[in-house]
Amino acid sequence: MKTLITSALPYANGPLHLGHLAGAYLPADIFARYQRLMGKELLWVCGSDEHGAAITLRAKKEGIDPREIIDKYHELNKKSFEELGISFDYYHRTSAQLHHETSQEFFLKLLEQGDQFEVKTTEQYYDPEANQFLADRYIKGTCPNCKSENAFGDQCENCGKDLSPTELINPTSTISGAKPELRETKHWFFRLDNHEAWLKEWVKTGKVDGQQLHNPRDWKKHVSGQCMSWLDGGLHPRSITRDLDWGIPVPVEGADGKVLYVWFDAPIGYISASKQWALENGTDWEEWWKGEDSRLVHFIGKDNIVFHCIVFPAMLKAHGDYNLPENVPANQFLNFEGDKFSKSRGWGIELHEYLEVFKDFENGKDAIRWALIRNLPENQDADFTWDGFTEYYDKDLADKLGNFFNRVTVLTHKYFDGEVPDSPQEEGAESLARTQVQGKVAEFVHAIGAHIDAYRFKDAATSFVELASFGNTYLQDAAPWSLYKADPNDPRIAETMFVSIQIAAALALTATPFIPFAAERLRSALNQGPATNGDWALALSGVTSGQPLLAAGHVLGQAGVLFPKIEDRKDDSRKAIIEGERAKMAAVLAAKEAAAPTTSASSQGSTREPFKPECTFEDFLKLDLRTATILTAAPVKKSNKLLHLTIELGTEQRSVVSGIAKHFAPEDIVGKHVCCVVNLAPRKMAGVLSEAMILMAEDGEGKLAFVSPPAGLGDGWMVR
Ligand code: 2FM
Ligand code: ZN
Repeated sequence: MKTLITSALPYANGPLHLGHLAGAYLPADIFARYQRLMGKELLWVCGSDEHGAAITLRAKKEGIDPREIIDKYHELNKKSFEELGISFDYYHRTSAQLHHETSQEFFLKLLEQGDQFEVKTTEQYYDPEANQFLADRYIKGTCPNCKSENAFGDQCENCGKDLSPTELINPTSTISGAKPELRETKHWFFRLDNHEAWLKEWVKTGKVDGQQLHNPRDWKKHVSGQCMSWLDGGLHPRSITRDLDWGIPVPVEGADGKVLYVWFDAPIGYISASKQWALENGTDWEEWWKGEDSRLVHFIGKDNIVFHCIVFPAMLKAHGDYNLPENVPANQFLNFEGDKFSKSRGWGIELHEYLEVFKDFENGKDAIRWALIRNLPENQDADFTWDGFTEYYDKDLADKLGNFFNRVTVLTHKYFDGEVPDSPQEEGAESLARTQVQGKVAEFVHAIGAHIDAYRFKDAATSFVELASFGNTYLQDAAPWSLYKADPNDPRIAETMFVSIQIAAALALTATPFIPFAAERLRSALNQGPATNGDWALALSGVTSGQPLLAAGHVLGQAGVLFPKIEDRKDDSRKAIIEGERAKMAAVLAAKEAAAPTTSASSQGSTREPFKPECTFEDFLKLDLRTATILTAAPVKKSNKLLHLTIELGTEQRSVVSGIAKHFAPEDIVGKHVCCVVNLAPRKMAGVLSEAMILMAEDGEGKLAFVSPPAGLGDGWMVR
């Protein structure tokens, strides 16, 4: 079985930050490294997404050629990935000639079929001063929803609502500032509506034309939930061409000045990257994409779900000969110290910045990988904090992993001159203990891999830490130092050290996908070279059949203190680095406060409602408030106010009707962690049963916000 994995092609119009890394790259790296260690055939492609209006807009503002921007950020992002150990097999770019040709061929193949596109002439905004049609992003105006004055023609970044340019109040062109005019233009629309029926069946059951392609239970709930929200809302033809001078020219007559829409060519970038990789390696690309014995997995963030689970699969199916993705294990978003990453506000830390500031921070690359892995936004949004960063490093890497390695190597040198002692398998109580411990190690090695295979990277990391704890407890309980004091020739000393060394070897191997740089040092402490393809599979079959990972007679190296604790040292330069980052964020907050108008109750007018009359504590206790996650959201027929939601309560799922349709698009709230009242009498609204009520906060202007419990708290827990 071949596994082809892709990670979302990042736009080459700016640097990437920690949130991006945690979304689509670090999880894929753990997966890829593990599959390689299992001896599996794997190809991982990625690259820069170099088209799209955001790039041209920036180039226009800075008065430079878009190429300058994409060259700069392609190199910067590629280098950051390399330095953080993100082990793509190929990092391509969509400005490459091969990509242009591949995208045009793909378009023509769909065009040939006659029914995949419709050509429509529609009215679109035109800038009469700049003499060009305006991409949605080039138009700004007032949001019809929240009245923010800085909404874009495709989305309001203030309230998150998807918009079309004609919905904006007082639109202006961001190129010239002129008032745009509506003019007629011709575009190619992909008939996504024709794909609705099979896509629904595929997302729900994993079947296409009666053939089982994947198990729908293997997909994350928030991914299928978001897909079903879209599909239930109905699919419509989508324009896949634009009037722009930057992009891939539409390869037909009469399409002068038109390019393919960036979201049409970007996913084809996965195909062209595979082609370029195959060319450079003298091999074939097609079997990876079309072979029966090949599977496709897309690693992305939740904002890309629709394109990877609906639009691109429809394109692949329309083309006719491509495999569909077996899974799209999208992650939710990572926040930074309680707020969204924001380049304009300076909130967060970019990858190249981290690499620069932390360049002398011992184990810095593994430290950030580890902190992100322990807190991945796998199923709900998560929050990165510098406290968490220090704590995961100290508690897991220093106290558990490093400490165990230090003790094992020091004791082996002390008692056996560094040699793995001979500990023959004999009948009797001790060897039974040894067999049991080895069985446990085999279970851990198997469990870590099984979690990775199922895209449960946080669980895999937890099992890894548990293996280190298991090693520490085993060594502590066996206490070879006490045995040695009583009788240096006690055979139990050899047995304890032999078994501990096997645990250490299992840790050094299984650390590789998570903390690849430190894993090499762990292995070198055991006098082993870096792990190579197939090593995990060999180790697994070895430990399962009771074979040692390191045989008697092998001489260990020295571990020393592999992960010096951060918190222990008062004058540690690493603390100063972290404090420096905290200070930067404090300055951002101070600037925000200084800029904000002073908010007093009166500045918001009389909009706060008066407090309600007193009620008793017993009255309050009657309410059953719980944490929950929104699994699906869809409009309620014939109502413009109501959304029909399904929520997860940990022990059960419920149907909820909520009057929030005017405030939130269904696809934006799937996966939201919320609080709700679960013991109100069920009632029907617009013919749909509602079995709970979602709590919302409302400000003086009627803007709603979910009352969300902190990230990491599961579903169904009581709110008191
Ligand atoms: O959201 C983004 O950053 C897009 N550039 C992702 C594209 S993914 C794929 F389709 F290429
Ligand atoms: Zn808005």
